[in-house]
Amino acid sequence: MDKERIINPGVISTDDRVDLALRPKFLSEIVGQDQIRENLSILLTAAKQRNEPLDHVLFYGPPGLGKTTFAHVMANEMNVSIKVTAGPAIERAGDLAAILSNLHEGDILFIDEIHRLNRAIEEILYPAMEDSVLDIMVGKGPSARSIRLKLPRFTVIGATTRLSLVSAPLRARFGAVYRLNYYDQPAMERIIYNASVKMNISADDDGVHEIAIRSRGTPRIGLRLLRRVRDYSQVRAEGLIDQLTSQQALELLEIDAAGLDDVDRRVLLTIIDKYGGGPVGLSTIAASMSEETDTIMEVVEPFLLQLGFIDRTPQGRNATRKAYEHLGIAYPDNSEDQPRQNSLFD
Ligand SMILES: Nc1ncnc2c1ncn2[C@@H]1O[C@H](COP(=O)(O)OP(=O)(O)OP(=O)(O)O)[C@@H](O)[C@H]1O
Ligand SMILES: [Mg+2]
Repeated sequence: MDKERIINPGVISTDDRVDLALRPKFLSEIVGQDQIRENLSILLTAAKQRNEPLDHVLFYGPPGLGKTTFAHVMANEMNVSIKVTAGPAIERAGDLAAILSNLHEGDILFIDEIHRLNRAIEEILYPAMEDSVLDIMVGKGPSARSIRLKLPRFTVIGATTRLSLVSAPLRARFGAVYRLNYYDQPAMERIIYNASVKMNISADDDGVHEIAIRSRGTPRIGLRLLRRVRDYSQVRAEGLIDQLTSQQALELLEIDAAGLDDVDRRVLLTIIDKYGGGPVGLSTIAASMSEETDTIMEVVEPFLLQLGFIDRTPQGRNATRKAYEHLGIAYPDNSEDQPRQNSLFD
C-alpha cells in the first residue's frame, strides 16, 4: 500500500517532529477521552497520595488516538522517567533484563505493540511486574541455575492496537485496561483548533469544522490534514483556512465528506461489486484488492464499522444500506430473500 496514504493513522515520515511539539504534556491538556482521563486522574492521585508507583496500565485501540501520548502524560504527571520500547524490539531475554535492571523506583516502562512480545520474554516480565523480581538463568546444561534479582518497583504501560493478540496471562498482570475510542466531532475540532493556534495558523471555525469531520475521529489524522490544508491555503488562498479552502484542499487529497479515502472506498466497492454486498472475509477482501490484511483489519475496518458502513457477522463483513447510499449505489432490496452465500457455489 501507499506508505504515505494521507489518512493512514500510523506515523508517516513528516509527522514525528510536528506531533512531538503538539503532544499534550499533562492530563489537563488532553481533549476528549473523558472517561479515561477521569480514571487516570484517580489512579495518579491515589498513587501520589500513597507515595507508591502507579499500577500497570494497558491502553488499546486503533492507531493515532493517543496511547503513546497518555503514557508520556502519566510519566509527566508522576514526575518519573519513562523508558520507551516496543514488543518487536525486545528480541532476547537479555534485552529485557538490561532494560529492567536499569529502571529506578517508580519509573515507567512503556512497551508499545505489546502484543508482539514473544512468549519467552513475557514469562520474564510476569514476575517483574508482579513481584519486582528478575529471574535469570546462569550457566548452561546441568549446572544451569536460576538466580533471582530484586528490581525497583516500576510501572509497565503497555499499548496495543490488537487486544485480542495480548495473551491472557499478560493481560491479567495489568491493574487497569483502557480502550481509547474515536474522538467525537467537538473534541476533534478542539484538537485541531488548539494545534492551529500552537502552529500559528489562522483558521476560522468553519475551516476547522471541515477538517475535523474528515479526520476519522483520529487526532493524528486531523493534525496531518491541518498541515496539508495549511499548505494549500498558503499557496492558493493567502493563508486563511476557511470552509472553502478546507473543502478544496481536502477534495484535492481525495478525502470525501465522511473522511473516506480511496482505500476505504475500494474496500466498500469490493464488498458490493465483487461479493454482492457480503458476507465476505477481511482477508479475501484484502487479497482481492492487493492490500495488506493488517491494514484492512486495523485501520479500515474499525472506521467503517464505526461509521456503520459495514456489519460484522460470523460469515464475514456486509456492506450496509448506509454504505450504498454514501457511494450513491442502489441498495438491493431483495437481499433478505436470497441468501447471499449461494453465490459462493455459483
Ligand atoms: N487527546 C488528545 N488531545 C490532543 N492531541 C492528541 C490527543 N491524542 C493524540 N493527540 C495527538 O495525536 C498524535 C498521535 O497520538 P499518539 O502518538 O499518542 O497515538 P497512538 O495511539 O500512540 O498511536 P499508535 O497506535 O500509532 O502508536 C500525538 O502526537 C498528539 O499530538
Ligand atoms: Mg503510539
